[in-house]
Amino acid sequence: MNIIEIRDNVFLLNTLHTSYLFKLNEHDHLEHVHYGSRVLPEDHDALSVKHWTGYGTTIMYDEKDQTYSLDHIPQEFGTYGKGDLREPSLEMECKGSYTLDLTYDSYEIIDGDTKIEGLPNAYGCDRTLLVHLKDVHNGIHLDLYYAVYYDTDVISRRCVLINRSGSTVVLHKLLSYCLDLSENDLTLMSFTGAWNKEAHLTETDLERGKQVVESRSGFSGNKTNPGFIVRKDNTTECNGKAWGFNLVYSGNHYSSVAKDEYGVLRIQGGISPERFELKLKNKESFCSPEAVLSYTENGLNDLSAHFHDFVNEHIVRSDWKKKERPILINSWEAFGMKFTKDSLLKLAQNAKELGIEMFVLDDGWFGRRDSDLRGLGDYDCNRRKIPGGIRSLSKSIHDMGLLFGIWVEPEAINPDSALYEKHPEYALNENERGLLLGRHELLMDLGNAEVRDYIVENVTKLIDENDVDYIKWDMNRLMASLSGIENHDYIKGLYEVLERIFIKRPWVLLESCSSGGNRFDLGMLCYSPQIWASDDTDPVERLDIQKGLSYLYPVSAMGAHVSASPHSMTFRTTPLETRFHVAAFGAFGYELDLGSISSLSKKEIKEQVSYYKKHRSTFQFGRFYRIDEESDYEVFEVQNEEETIVAKFRRIVHAVPSFDKLCVYGLKEDRVYAVDAREFNHNIKKFGNLLNYVTPVQLNTEGLLVHSISKRRGFKEGTQNYRASGRALRYGINLNNLFLGSGFDRHLRLSLDYGSDMFLIKEVNDESGKEE
Ligand code: DGJ
Repeated sequence: MNIIEIRDNVFLLNTLHTSYLFKLNEHDHLEHVHYGSRVLPEDHDALSVKHWTGYGTTIMYDEKDQTYSLDHIPQEFGTYGKGDLREPSLEMECKGSYTLDLTYDSYEIIDGDTKIEGLPNAYGCDRTLLVHLKDVHNGIHLDLYYAVYYDTDVISRRCVLINRSGSTVVLHKLLSYCLDLSENDLTLMSFTGAWNKEAHLTETDLERGKQVVESRSGFSGNKTNPGFIVRKDNTTECNGKAWGFNLVYSGNHYSSVAKDEYGVLRIQGGISPERFELKLKNKESFCSPEAVLSYTENGLNDLSAHFHDFVNEHIVRSDWKKKERPILINSWEAFGMKFTKDSLLKLAQNAKELGIEMFVLDDGWFGRRDSDLRGLGDYDCNRRKIPGGIRSLSKSIHDMGLLFGIWVEPEAINPDSALYEKHPEYALNENERGLLLGRHELLMDLGNAEVRDYIVENVTKLIDENDVDYIKWDMNRLMASLSGIENHDYIKGLYEVLERIFIKRPWVLLESCSSGGNRFDLGMLCYSPQIWASDDTDPVERLDIQKGLSYLYPVSAMGAHVSASPHSMTFRTTPLETRFHVAAFGAFGYELDLGSISSLSKKEIKEQVSYYKKHRSTFQFGRFYRIDEESDYEVFEVQNEEETIVAKFRRIVHAVPSFDKLCVYGLKEDRVYAVDAREFNHNIKKFGNLLNYVTPVQLNTEGLLVHSISKRRGFKEGTQNYRASGRALRYGINLNNLFLGSGFDRHLRLSLDYGSDMFLIKEVNDESGKEE
C-alpha cells in the first residue's frame, strides 16, 4: 500500500481509489498536477499542464525564463505579488509589502495524525505529508499538511503560517487549501438555505468568473453549508467524476471556485478573510482549520459514501461512534415551554408504552423561562413547573426504563436573567450603540476564560448531578458585528468548552442544534455525533433538507423526528407513515404530544418504533443512496450486508398517475431477492366521500361517527410482495398499480399527496426458498 510516494521531486499521495499528485518544479515552486483517479509517479509529465511559452501580457516570474508565469501554473498554494493574478490563498503585509514567494524548503512524513492548536481535526489518518515552504526574502514560512485517510478516499489539507521575519506582520487571510484543477464542463453543487429550509441543493454552471460559498453569520450557518461539490456536467448519482470539499470548522467560512481564462478552476477554502486582521509577532504562528477533500469517478452516491465513512470513522468520537442511537421523544413540539412535571411524566409514560427509549426535556425548565424573552444563562430548575427539580424528574424517567436527556443553550444569555443582573460583562455586547438582540439574546463572551469556566461548571454539574444521558446543545443567536479574529476566538472558546465537558464524558450523547441546522458542520461533529437538522419537521420540507445534507453527512448525523400534522410551520397535512419514512433516514425520534393522538396513531407509532429498532443499524449506518431514476419521486435507500431498505416518496398526486417502478442500487446482480412493502394503515378520513361506496349506509364523512371510527380503525395499504434478481431490481421492476379512481383490489397502492412506500429487500436462499 503506497500511501505516500516521493520520487524525483514528485509527491504522490494515494488513497484506495484516488491519487493526489504535485511536483517541485524548476523554480522551486510546488506545482499541482493531478487530483483524480489512481495514477503512477511516472505519469506526472503527461498529466502536467504544459508551459512552453509566455502569453501576451503575462508577467514572467523570471525574465530569463520566458516560459514561466505563475499565472499559468496550477499551484498548491497561491500567493500575491510575483505574477499570479488569481485570488491568493494567503494575504499578509510584511515590512510594508504584500508580496510573497513561497518556495520549497523540505518535507517530512509523519506516521499518523497531527494536532491543530485550539481546533478539532479528524483522527486516525494513515500518514501525513508535511511540506515546509519559505519566502527567502522575508522569512515567512508556510507549512502545508496533507493527511491521507486511505480507506475512505479522503485527503485533508491544512497549513500553518510561521512568522520568522524578525518583525510583526499583519495577516489578512490564510485559507486551508488551494487546488488548481484543469478540467472543463463543471457544475458547482452548494447547499444553501435559511432557518427552516437548510441545505437545499443549488447547482450552478461554472463559467468564467467566481462563485463563492461563504458564511458571515459568525457560524458555519444555514445560508450556505461549508461543504460543496464540483462535478462534471454529466455526472449523475451513479456515474461520473466529482470532487467534494468540506471544512472542520464552525465559524465564518469562505470558499471560492473561480474559472480563469484557460479554463483552470482555482478552488480554495478556509476561514473567512472578511474583517480578519491578525498581528503576528516574530516567531508567532497561525493555524488554519483542516479542509477535507475527496474525489470519485463513480458518481455522487460514491462521493457521499466517502464522506459518510469519513465522518463515522475519523470525525465522530465518544462511545457513540458507530453505536446505534436511541429513539427519543422530545418535549418541544409537544409542549413548548408550557409543561408541568405531570405532563412531562405522562409524555414519557406514553413514549415508553410505544417502545421509545429516551425522554428529552427541551427548553423552558430553568430560571424565569416561560417564554424566550428571559432566563438564558441561568441553570436553576423552575420548581413551580418541576417540583423536586431535575434530579427527581431524571430519577422518575430512569425508573420507567427510559434514558434521560435535557436541553441547554449555554452560549447565550437573556438580558432578563439572574446571570445578566450579576455579570453583564459575561455577555458579548457586539455593539457600542446599545443592545443588539437576536431572539432576545446576546451571546456569551466565549473568548473570556471566566465565561468558559462558568459554562463548563454549570453544564457538568447538570450532567453529573442528574445522571443525564443526552444533551441537546442549542444556539440561537447569530453574530452581527464581530471582527474575523473575534469570531475565530469565540469558535476556539466553544471548542474548548465542548472538549472539557464532553471528551471527559464519552457516554453522554450530544446532539448539537442551532435553530435547527444553522451549525451543521464537521467541527461540531467532532463533539456531537448528531446534529438537529432543521426546526422544520414537515416531512415534505425535510426531504429536501435531508437529501441536501446527505451529499456531505451520514444519516446517523442528522436528527430527524416525526411531528404533528398539520405541521405547525407549513400547515401541511401529511400521512403519519410518510412522516415516519422520512424521519427513519436520520437519528430518529418523535416530537409531538403522544397523549393527544388517536389510538390508531398510537398503534401505528408502536409498529414504526419496532420496525425501526429491527432495522436501526441499516438505517443509521448502512450505505446510503439517492436513487435518481424517476423525477416524480424522491427515493432514498440504505443497505448493509443483510438487507436493503428503499423508501419512495410521492409529492403531489395527479390523476392517471404513470406506472411506476422500484429501482434498487448496490444489490448482487445474479442473486434473487424478496421485496416486501412495509404494512401500515391509512386514516379512513383521507378517503372522504369514497367511504360511501363501500359502506351499506350513507355516512356523513365529516361527522362524528366517521371521526370516532377513524381514531380506532384504519384502512390497510395494499400488500406488495415481489421477487426479482438484483439485475432486474437495478433496472427497475414495475410496482403494483396506484389507485386510479375506480375499482379496487387489495393489491392496489393508494395514491395520496405526500404518500410513500417503504420496501425491505432481502436475499432469498435458493434451496429453502426462504429469505436469508
Ligand atoms: C431552537 C431549536 O432548534 C428547537 O428544536 C428548540 O430546542 C428551541 N430552540 C427551543 O427554544
